Order: sequence, then C-alpha cells, then structure tokens
Amino acid sequence: MWNKRLRNTLFLIYLLNSYCSAYIHPIEIQGKKFVDSVTKEPFFIKGVDYQPGGSSEVNAKSDPLSDPSICARDIYMFQQLGINTIRIYSINPDLNHDACMTMLAAAGIYLLLDVNSPLPNQHLNRYEPWTTYNEGYINHVLKVTHKFSFYNNTLGFFAGNEIVNDKKSSKNAPPYIKSVINDMKTYSRKHLPRNIPIGYSAADDLNYRISLAKYLECSESSTSSDYSVDFYGINSYQWCGQQTIKTSGYDKLVEAYQNYSRPVLFSEFGCNLILPRQFEEIKALFSPDMYSTFSGGLVYEYSQEPNNYGLVMLSADGSAMMLSDFDMLKKQYANTITPNAKELENIWAQKLGKQSEVNKQPLCKAKYDNLSIETKVAKGLATKLIANGVKIDQGRYIQLNESDLQVQYEIYDLSGKQIDPSLTKVKVTHKVDTNSEDDDSSSKGNKLGAGTPNQSQGTSSNSNTNSNSNSNSRQKSAGSIHGFSYFALIITLLFQIYNS
Ligand SMILES: *[C@@H]1O[C@H](CO)[C@@H](O)[C@H](O)[C@H]1NC(C)=O
Ligand SMILES: *[C@@H]1O[C@H](CO)[C@@H](O)[C@H](O)[C@H]1NC(C)=O
Ligand SMILES: *[C@@H]1O[C@H](CO)[C@@H](O)[C@H](O)[C@H]1NC(C)=O
Ligand SMILES: *[C@@H]1O[C@H](CO)[C@@H](O)[C@H](O)[C@H]1NC(C)=O
Ligand SMILES: *[C@@H]1O[C@H](CO)[C@@H](O)[C@H](O)[C@H]1NC(C)=O
Repeated sequence: MWNKRLRNTLFLIYLLNSYCSAYIHPIEIQGKKFVDSVTKEPFFIKGVDYQPGGSSEVNAKSDPLSDPSICARDIYMFQQLGINTIRIYSINPDLNHDACMTMLAAAGIYLLLDVNSPLPNQHLNRYEPWTTYNEGYINHVLKVTHKFSFYNNTLGFFAGNEIVNDKKSSKNAPPYIKSVINDMKTYSRKHLPRNIPIGYSAADDLNYRISLAKYLECSESSTSSDYSVDFYGINSYQWCGQQTIKTSGYDKLVEAYQNYSRPVLFSEFGCNLILPRQFEEIKALFSPDMYSTFSGGLVYEYSQEPNNYGLVMLSADGSAMMLSDFDMLKKQYANTITPNAKELENIWAQKLGKQSEVNKQPLCKAKYDNLSIETKVAKGLATKLIANGVKIDQGRYIQLNESDLQVQYEIYDLSGKQIDPSLTKVKVTHKVDTNSEDDDSSSKGNKLGAGTPNQSQGTSSNSNTNSNSNSNSRQKSAGSIHGFSYFALIITLLFQIYNS
C-alpha cells in the first residue's frame, strides 16, 4: 500500500519537476556520445554552420553574436528549420554576446564555437605554426574559451579547423593542435565553471582520415587526457544528389570511426554539386547504421554567400528570404528520429560488441601514418595566462523582453511572400536562469548588461515562459523553480498522510 502511494507520489513529483525544469542543460560527453548532463539522454546534433558574411565580417564592432536584432531574425529562422545547434567559425571575444546567447538558450539552441579567427595573431599558420603559436595567440584562444564558458548552451569548442590539410601541414602542425587543446583544458580546470568539451574539425582527406583522428584521440598516459580531443568533427561533402550509404562512401566513414572512443560528428556537410539540395544524407546519418557512430552534423551553411551553399538569402536592408534548400532541410530534419540511451546501447551491443572496450581511450603510439608528430612545441608560453587568468569577463544570461524577441526585419518565404510580422518572433521553449551567482572567482564582477532581475527566492513562482504581459516574468529564477518543487513535495506528502 505504502509502496504504491510512494510510487504515485514520486511520479507526481517527477511530472511537476519535468514540467518546471525546462532549463537548457549543459551537454557533456560520456564515452562516444554527447549526453544531456541532467537527463543523461543522448544528444544528437541537428545543426547548421552560421557565419553570415564569412569570417572576414568579424571585426572590432561586430560578429555573428553581437547584434541582438540580427540574432532574433536568425534564431527565428533556426526555429523554423528545427535545428538544435549552430556552429560559428569566429567571433570577437571583446564584444558582448549576452543577449544573443540568452536568446539562443531560450530557443533551446546550442553553440559549437571555433576559438580561432582569420585575423592576425588569432590562428595558427599551418605550415610554420611556431611563428604563430605565441602568448598573443594563446591569449585570444583563452579569451574566447573564458568568455563563452558560463553559458549552458555552449556545447563545445573547436580548437582548430582543417589545420592539417596537405603534406606540408601534416609534417608540421599536428603537435600544435594538441598543445592548443592542452592550454584550453589546463586553463578551464583552473578558471572556468565547467569543462566544456573541446574538439577538432578535420578536412576529410583520405591520407589523414584515420591517422589524424587517432593521433588527436590518444592520450599521453592512462591517467590524463589533457592533450586529447573530447570529440571529433569531419567536414564531409561526399554525398551528392541521389546516393546510398554505400555509393556515397559513408560506409567507409562508419568503418573508419566506429571504434572511436569519443563522439564524432559532421562539422560540415551538404554537397552542392546538384541543386536544389535534397539532403537525403540526413536520412542516412540518422539511421541506426550511422547514428551508432555519428552524433549528427551541421549543414554548411546558413547564409547564401558567393560559394552558393546558402539556406537563406540575407539582404543589405536586413530582410531574409528562405531559399529552396531551406525547405528541403527543414523537411529532412523534421523526419529524423533519434534513439534514446537504451536504444543506442542496444545498437552498440549489436554492432560493436562489448562497449566498454570500444570506449577505452587508446594510449599514444610513437608513429602515425602520413603524419609527423615529432615537431617540438615550445613549452610554457601559456603559463602566465593560466596562472593569472585572461583579462575578460564571462558572458552571462540577461533578462530579455518581448520586443527583443520580435524580429525587426522582413522575412520572406520560398515563394517570395512576406511572412506576417506578428508571426516572426523567437519562441521561448526553455527557461533561462538569469539569477545564478557568478561562480567564476577570477571575474571582476563586471555585471554590465547583466540585468539581474528584481526577484527574491521562490516568490514569483507562477510566471509563464510565454507571458506577454510583463517583461520580467519571462524567465523564472532558479529559486522559484526549487521553491515550487519543494512546495509540490510538501503538498503531495501531506496529501499522502491525510489519505493513509
Ligand atoms: C596514408 O595515406 C594513404 C594514401 O596516400 C592512405 O591509403 C592510407 O590509408 C593513409 N593511412 C592512414 C592511417 O590514414
Ligand atoms: C575496429 O575494431 C574492430 C574490432 O576490434 C577491428 O576489427 C577494426 O579493424 C577496427 N577498425 C579500425 C578502423 O580501427
Ligand atoms: C526591451 O529591451 C531593450 C534592450 O534589450 C530596450 O531597448 C527596450 O526599451 C526594452 N523594451 C521594453 C518594452 O521594456
Ligand atoms: C546551468 O545548468 C546547471 C545544471 O543544469 C544549472 O544548475 C544552472 O542553474 C544552469 N545555469 C544557468 C545560468 O542557467
Ligand atoms: C525590488 O522590488 C521591490 C518591491 O517590488 C522594490 O521595493 C525595490 O525597490 C526593488 N529593487 C530594485 C533594485 O529595483
């Protein structure tokens, strides 16, 4: 009797909690999968690459996350597409990204961020990395890492993109990639609230497909993975038009990566040789044959640029028009079904045998085919930065109001018809905690733009995320959530006692 009551009680609390705790949760890595750190369910990336204007548009005044009105427009489009992740190739860490990151979080969208940029002193020279791996460069990398470390919807960082892409770079660059990873990991442990996954995005070149992946995966000792990637991205454009897993060669990719001990994803995909793109590869990518190896991917790319991969045409007046690839991608992503933890384990058991052995990170070998790993990297260049911390404050979530979520620009659908502006608005699907304490001890407490809401613990329990009446009611404080849970617990317990 009591057992049944207890079960009912727990179930009720569970329901109340799951209803109330729709915060965006950090994603963490468990063996070869990304998982939601709270629900522990696998996370599959359904994403697009996002860098309107290309990396050259990043400057002292603007980057893709610096203008909230542009973000509102594009996040509205992301929601129409049904994606859960974007990748950005470069940002300026000195700008304020709080409004855009809050809006992404509220829309349930994660960010994979490259820490490099094409600007001088902000990337490695792939042929002579020793000329660029210096304190100024490392400072930039750590500033990006530090700046984005607070946001729960920062899914991960790419320490490098296609640094190894030919014979010469394969001779000189590989150990430098591991050094950057090491600097970021050492820094994160000392200064940041959580260890955000760090990966690498590789050009899919057969010469390095396996060897570079294995070199970046391996660990120096059985107790430390301080130089290893936490996940691996490949930029793959080999599925063009009508293909199958076999004819596209995707089966070879699965073969190459199925034993990888860390998550693997397509950091770019979407061949454009045959237009309009049908994105049939998404069916393959999200089938058991592939999701057992790949954690999804990012379609290249959101905006139409001279290289003709766009989903959306952006105009100088800020208006945006969906292109035919947009509709195709939307349909394909909408039709994907991803496995839960149990289903994934079952597939692995079938395909890979004993999972624990597959997940074991290998120790580094002395040699890797087609790569040279002997280059000695100067040590200690990051020591001072790691000891003292870089000069930048962490971003934070801020209070947004209804007008921030309203798209200010004209949006056109595929047929050229303008979408009713009353409909073009970012939809809030997740609560964002704008109240949480700054747990970064090295931050100097600069709360610029923080907009800490005037709410005390547990009082404003009844605000609705879609409220349109009160700008402050859109986001609940953590206190109110916890307050509500305890309240629910007490009420249900009282109810149980009364009934027994
Ligand atoms: C090395 O390169 C050759 C082709 O040049 C390729 O066939 C081979 O698979 C590569 N080895 C690895 C381990 O990637
Ligand atoms: C993956 O593991 C299987 C079984 O241990 C092995 O036969 C295969 O060669 C491995 N593949 C790669 C690319 O290492
Ligand atoms: C909403 O916030 C923006 C800044 O984020 C501000 O300029 C605007 O006045 C606010 N609007 C309302 C109705 O509070
Ligand atoms: C981030 O996620 C953690 C774990 O779910 C949660 O405790 C924390 O309040 C979240 N922070 C914000 C600012 O939402
Ligand atoms: C917070 O709200 C209370 C009551 O509504 C008000 O008296 C107080 O001045 C407010 N504090 C701030 C900092 O706005």
